[in-house]
Amino acid sequence: MSLPESASKIISDGEVGWECPSNIALIKYWGKYPGQIPANPSLSFTLSSCVTQTRIAYENADHGGMDFLFDGEPKPEFAHKIQTYLDTLRPEFPWLNQTHLRIASHNTFPHSSGIASSASAMGALALCLLSIDRAIRPQNLINSLPDAAFWGQASDLARRGSGSACRSVYGGFTVWGAHPDIPGSDDRRAVPLDMKTIHPSFRDIQDAVLLVDRGTKFVSSTIGHSLMDGHPYASARFRQGGERVALLWKIIKNGGENAWQAFGNIVESEALTLHAMMLASTPSFLLMKPATVAIIEEIRRFRNQSGVPVFFTLDAGANVHLLFPESASVQAMELIDQQLTPYLNEGSYLCDRLGDGPSPLTL
Ligand code: PMV
Repeated sequence: MSLPESASKIISDGEVGWECPSNIALIKYWGKYPGQIPANPSLSFTLSSCVTQTRIAYENADHGGMDFLFDGEPKPEFAHKIQTYLDTLRPEFPWLNQTHLRIASHNTFPHSSGIASSASAMGALALCLLSIDRAIRPQNLINSLPDAAFWGQASDLARRGSGSACRSVYGGFTVWGAHPDIPGSDDRRAVPLDMKTIHPSFRDIQDAVLLVDRGTKFVSSTIGHSLMDGHPYASARFRQGGERVALLWKIIKNGGENAWQAFGNIVESEALTLHAMMLASTPSFLLMKPATVAIIEEIRRFRNQSGVPVFFTLDAGANVHLLFPESASVQAMELIDQQLTPYLNEGSYLCDRLGDGPSPLTL
């Protein structure tokens, strides 16, 4: 992926801005080692319209500092998280000690909607910080490296803010975590899977996020990942995650007659395995609601009866992501409108699809 030409133009009068999409994991990252190192590789695809837009105006100051607005309003809990993150970056970006950052963010999707907002938010923030770094330290070695280094560094920076965010700085399908079969794969940054190698039947994958419970607080990342420390099934799960990355990669590369069914078998089992790990941990978490289970059963019944390739995945919450190829859009919408709507919170769902990745904002 090359750096968009406009990226060099986004810096004007000390202001930068990036739009970064969220992503949905097909093979889940659940469990980590110190330094935000994943216990197993994960494979995701980046969304298109569920994005965070972040602008940062920066100016010289005696001390480093920042203020943060979300949709024009202060958000102390987010500001605190960002401040902690920036503090960890001071040794790497010494200019943070003499720069005041005015950070303003906006999400195009509702909060608590089942879309990981930390992935898009931390992705956008990392890209902004790197753009500022490029503007004020053009002589810095990393800043004179080719474009691929920019994206790699952005992914690494984003990972340190929120693990899954490292996958959001690339469009298409990405893998995060060292895997012997995936060239260039790394625990510290995600790598994009070359879209030219992805079979056409997976290049237009759709994601309809079915909102079961808008108020659901996902289990926090820190607590969630720590549930895998000393978990009785941890080593089997981590091994399985790695094996499934290789399997799923093969399926989306090769395509073929039963490819969507093979894809769905793995992806649905991944979602249920994530929840099974939570159910079997101490303390245990049951994040599915009765409506989550009902929707899963409806999706499977519809698929078995109609043969239409619709499958589900789940994040660490109650909402359901309905995955299907664009060719099944009409039937998938019928399924939602005619059978799934009664289970949804105010009948609401969000439609998204595989996207191209972040882009610089016009300021
Ligand atoms: O990036 P985190 O620390 O919020 O963890 C994300 C964990 C899952 O969303 C459940 C799975 C994943 O790989 O995105």
